[in-house]
Amino acid sequence: MGEALLKARVHALRLEARDVISVELQPAESGAKLPAFEPGSHIDLHLAEGLVRSYSLLNGANDRRYVIGVLKARDSRGGSRHVHEQLKLGAELLISAPRNNFRLVEDAQHSVLVAGGIGVTPLLAMLRRLAGLGRSVEFIHCARSRADAAFLEEVEAIVAAHPEVELRHHFDATHGGPPDLRMLLAGKPPGSHFYCCGPTPMLAAFEEACAALGQPNAHIERFSPVEQAPATSTGTCRVELRRSARVIEVKPDVSILDAVLAAGVRADHSCHEGMCGACETRVLCGDVEHRDSILTKQEQAANKSMMICVSRGRTGTLVLDL
Ligand code: FES
Repeated sequence: MGEALLKARVHALRLEARDVISVELQPAESGAKLPAFEPGSHIDLHLAEGLVRSYSLLNGANDRRYVIGVLKARDSRGGSRHVHEQLKLGAELLISAPRNNFRLVEDAQHSVLVAGGIGVTPLLAMLRRLAGLGRSVEFIHCARSRADAAFLEEVEAIVAAHPEVELRHHFDATHGGPPDLRMLLAGKPPGSHFYCCGPTPMLAAFEEACAALGQPNAHIERFSPVEQAPATSTGTCRVELRRSARVIEVKPDVSILDAVLAAGVRADHSCHEGMCGACETRVLCGDVEHRDSILTKQEQAANKSMMICVSRGRTGTLVLDL
């Protein structure tokens, strides 16, 4: 059994930029309410059998409707193509409740939001919140070109209503290449928080820039799984499920999640690829080879929790709070 799902209806579909549509979801049943969410949250869309994709919520957190932005990816693994080609107005679909793996520190002295392409979506919700709170915030909106920059008008409208917000654009087509993040992020006050959502090379450049500038408060959100080196823990792994008082042997070609479910123990899950956070489980004891795309390096090193759909125990018995 996965997590409890919600029934939603497609209330609006809008073209937002070249190859980008927004999808507005409302409860499928009249009188029902969608759970509240925080900026940075995402939901999973259950699009078809085995096709589950996570999308960030871009609208205001008090709306009780969910709006997502979907780019028709050239290298689509099926999700974005399905949304663009199959999803129709009025269609019903199953979604997860919102989860937040990209938390906003609302009382930071200064915040810098770096949006790359469709990665603008969670940052738009963050910008709206920080601007509304009157916080010091800067938004760096990057895209291939102006025509590719989704939600440009929405960002500009927020900035127009809050002139203290600083907005910069970077269009690769105009500047002749990707942004120089080290230059753009330099000179920010100590204690600033930096957020980036965008394509993988941009996230890598962002992390490198923050590290080189000695800025420790760097937060990222990915929209595709991190490419992992081959696993080093390739044998059978022994797992104790402390709350269920069970010990299971997990074969090399089976995930801990699947072994737990096969043993009849309930564990939330959704994406099966270390992206959504649904299966995050507390580690009580043991050494983990983390292979998810959510936890930061520091969180992985702290070893307090793991995504059991992709990560495994290295040696000895792994003890989980399940
Ligand atoms: S099921 Fe999504 S991270 Fe494990």
